[in-house]
Amino acid sequence: MPGTLKLKIALLLLIATFSAIAAPRGDVLYEKNCGACHGLDGSGGVGIPLSLPSFQASVDDNFLFSTIRHGRPGRVMPAFKALGDAQVNAIVRHIRSLAPGIKPVTFDNKKVISGNVTNGKKLYSENCAQCHGANGEGGHGTGVTFSRPRDLPIIAPALNNGGFLAAASDEMIRHTITHGRRGTPMQAFGRKGQNEAEINDIVTYIRSFEHAKHWEPIAVDEATISMESSYSLEETIDNLHRAAIGKNFKIIRTQNLEDGMFPEEEQSKHSVIVYFCNFSFVNRAINIDPRVGLFLPCRITVSERDGIVTLTSINPRYLSRFYNNSELDTACSEMYDIYVDIMEEATL
Ligand code: HEC
Ligand code: HEC
Repeated sequence: MPGTLKLKIALLLLIATFSAIAAPRGDVLYEKNCGACHGLDGSGGVGIPLSLPSFQASVDDNFLFSTIRHGRPGRVMPAFKALGDAQVNAIVRHIRSLAPGIKPVTFDNKKVISGNVTNGKKLYSENCAQCHGANGEGGHGTGVTFSRPRDLPIIAPALNNGGFLAAASDEMIRHTITHGRRGTPMQAFGRKGQNEAEINDIVTYIRSFEHAKHWEPIAVDEATISMESSYSLEETIDNLHRAAIGKNFKIIRTQNLEDGMFPEEEQSKHSVIVYFCNFSFVNRAINIDPRVGLFLPCRITVSERDGIVTLTSINPRYLSRFYNNSELDTACSEMYDIYVDIMEEATL
């Protein structure tokens, strides 16, 4: 082989290798960022299904791209701001491959549909509010998991959500109302006798949600709640048991912090964890978001250092920030109040 040809082949191979490295892998990115919630095959989980042909047929790539970028603030679906455009596009292509053969619609994303907002509100409350909420706040719970009301196989997304409103064009919303999504509780209202003008009125009403107050993550800085006790370690633990039981919790167990880490005789006896639980609260929390299992059951650590006894727990309000779930924020704020009450009672 002549030298120049060898060089050309080597160069081509090099370019091929580089472009293989440079082109983002949609399947890998999807698996890493989306699979845990939407399922590797797109059949849903904490997230709603993405592989349904009726869903894929009714959204354009712009909607998918923009949904990934903006997320759904306060509705579990994160905003993927750190991914580059090429990576987001690769994920969009991968989502399309989950429903092969489906030809997506195209929308005029700039087209403004204007109808009668008052009539839209009336039609919305008669036809949509039972699933999407009185003010478009969406169904309770998450996706298609056990954390949702049993009457619907798929949770109804929030329509008053800034992320949804940024991603959805008026034409996309009209198309979804008219055609519904086969295989989901979302019916085709075009076939239910709603005429085009009425559907336009509903679109106009949904668009008016843009002026509603939008969700903000809880503003807190402390990752833990901490209080000093004026009692001895043993007394404080007793007080803590009593305070937790007084708040309708069951004590699950009380153990040395170093249990299992070091042999019994080498364990410090100066740090103890008390685990407690209220089953109806746990049920409620899991019905909001199955991922809360990570910080349940409730636990408070009692430690003694230089004669000072301190109680410490995680701050549920701090943790809630990472879940992007407005319903969970409410439950975690309640949990925060309970922790503070119990700790105050055990230390005062
Ligand atoms: C922590 C869980 C979670 C992760 C991670 C997640 N999603 Fe979601 N996603 C959701 C939930 C929940 C919804 C429904 C929001 C609602 O109920 O309002 C949703 C909604 C969506 C929608 C709108 C579906 C529709 O019917 O309009 C798309 C598209 C979507 N997600 C794509 C993705 C992609 C792509 C990724 C990864 C880059 C991803 N999601 C990561 C939970 C998640
Ligand atoms: C029986 C419950 C139910 C009713 C009633 C209902 N929807 Fe839905 N809707 C759903 C569910 C569930 C989905 C998600 C479907 C999916 O998984 O793709 C949905 C999806 C949507 C979407 C797409 C949201 C997104 O994130 O992509 C829009 C827009 C919508 N509905 C509007 C309406 C309007 C307007 C009405 C009243 C005319 C209505 N829906 C009535 C359950 C319902």
